[in-house]
Amino acid sequence: MRSRDTILGALQDLHEEHGYLPAAEVKRAAERLGVPLSQAYSVATFYRAFSLKPRGKRVVRVCLGTACHVRGAREVVEALERALEIKAGETTPDRAVTLEVVKCVGACAIAPVAVVGKTIFAGVSPENVSEVLR
Ligand code: FES
Repeated sequence: MRSRDTILGALQDLHEEHGYLPAAEVKRAAERLGVPLSQAYSVATFYRAFSLKPRGKRVVRVCLGTACHVRGAREVVEALERALEIKAGETTPDRAVTLEVVKCVGACAIAPVAVVGKTIFAGVSPENVSEVLR
């Protein structure tokens, strides 16, 4: 358990520094702390806050929880995928935007919802995704 806590702190620092967890840095941290690499990756993949791939300067998150889903969030994701020319889970080649899908952000009453940074966009539709991207 101690090694799990130890590597968690190191991974948080790495993620903050790089915006994701570069494989070489994870390996270096595990070696430095004497934690098996498999355990480092176990922690890195357990927490959704960690990304193993480079992310964009901005992360657009679209909720696909039940309330958002039944109000058309899937179509919102598809519209964003077309606008950004990437699939959900990917980052634009210029690393400007990462598109992610998430489950319930606790704003079901204003579904469907997209989140960019600390801004929540309510009632998002395929027709107004440009407002989210602006
Ligand atoms: S289901 Fe989307 S905010 Fe709750």
